[in-house]
Amino acid sequence: MTEKTARAPEIITEKAVQRCIDPACGATYDLNERIYLCSRCGGTLEISQNLSEIGDATALRKRWSARAASRDPRDASGVWRYRELLPFDDAAPFVTLFEGNTPLYHGPRSARYCGLDDLRLKHQGCNPTGSFKDTGMTTAVTQAVVLGARTVVCASTGNTSASLAAYAGRAGLRAGVLLPRGQISSGKLAQSLDYGALVCEIDGNFDDCMRLIQELGEDPSIYVANSINPFRIEGQKTVAFEMMEQCAWQVPDHVVVPGGNMGNSTAIGKGFQELLDLGLIHRLPKLSAIQAEGAAPVANLFAKLKADQLTGEMPLPEVMETVENPRTLATAIKIGAPVSWKKALRAILRSGGKVIAVSEQEIAEAKAMIGRDGIGCEPGSATTVAGIKKLVAAKHIRSHDSVLAVLTGNMLKDPSYVSHYHSGTLVLDSPGGPPQRIVGSFQNAPKTVAATKAAILAALAQAGKEGNLP
Ligand code: F0G
Repeated sequence: MTEKTARAPEIITEKAVQRCIDPACGATYDLNERIYLCSRCGGTLEISQNLSEIGDATALRKRWSARAASRDPRDASGVWRYRELLPFDDAAPFVTLFEGNTPLYHGPRSARYCGLDDLRLKHQGCNPTGSFKDTGMTTAVTQAVVLGARTVVCASTGNTSASLAAYAGRAGLRAGVLLPRGQISSGKLAQSLDYGALVCEIDGNFDDCMRLIQELGEDPSIYVANSINPFRIEGQKTVAFEMMEQCAWQVPDHVVVPGGNMGNSTAIGKGFQELLDLGLIHRLPKLSAIQAEGAAPVANLFAKLKADQLTGEMPLPEVMETVENPRTLATAIKIGAPVSWKKALRAILRSGGKVIAVSEQEIAEAKAMIGRDGIGCEPGSATTVAGIKKLVAAKHIRSHDSVLAVLTGNMLKDPSYVSHYHSGTLVLDSPGGPPQRIVGSFQNAPKTVAATKAAILAALAQAGKEGNLP
């Protein structure tokens, strides 16, 4: 990548370009440039589409809803059916597992737990590989095919790798995934193996893997599929469109997501902003991201922002203090140096949302509560409900506000966490200190029961008395 490929913003004529997010730079690059960071200033890139080409937005909305009855295979995907807002042309060799189309549930118990009248849970864990990553991987792997790449790679805490492995398998590409050794749930590791990726277990944490990926990305034979890749963000932003359709275009007051590498908050913020720019919605929901206390660099930064930085009158700090050794049992978000922090923070601040951190105990209890709603999710996803409870207590969210939490991964991604929680053996090791044992309020350990009808009836009656059964 040489500097001469960077262009000034004013000469854009295409449907979309890749653009440096730093307003002081704003360099643009063709969509077919294999580039992840601005070659002029090192900033992150985003896809910038000429929305004036879309025409009548109301007609677009009608076209989207008519696609429910369509037989075009792109319309079976909850990502590609919004293709007018994706940076691909009609002939793109789209690689799909029919991602998206995930349910939006009411969670009455979780709502009461948070102090809300109502809470809706958008379950992105119902995607083909069990996490929200699929909505971005369909577009990133399609772009890899468009560019003629043969090898796709990513660093991961487990879900990105599972998703990349699956989509690369569909496309017939070679996938290499870099995972921090011993820090990935066995279910997620198993997925990458089964989908045929080369699994490289690295001695180090996710941030070390991510640094290696940035080096690998310099090799012209490699295509990087982490969320630093703006084509990932494009697919992931469509969840905002899908949620608005499911909400009958009534904008919720709050949308709350977990925060790890901060790609998801970036994507959802971008999706809502595009709907606003098109006039399909008339205000933004407040977007908040929730991190785990032991891996909360963005929440730490947010807590230190001054009033005029929160309102956007003063620029954000150029650098963020990273967390050297992130610690959390929510391994999906065990990240100390998130690459998309700046893009995400901008979107969050523009919407009036917040970034906060929650404790291991709060994550574990919230996860069990979501389970009691018959839904279930992985620990990283439960930061949302834990965070909403805190934001209600802090009066940032009011009890009658409409609130939507995005559950990012399926409960079966990390069953060992669930069994440990319910058996009272969930422990977070802390180097140099005593291990932290999580004693759950909603424990539900298995009981050994004699193989007789009477014993089972007695066990059921006892569980009823203890409140474990409704
Ligand atoms: N929830 C789950 C289940 C995740 O797997 C991740 C990230 C996040 C939330 C955070 O999303 O990074 O966009 O802020 N997982 C990545 C991975 C890092 O490699 O699977 P984010």
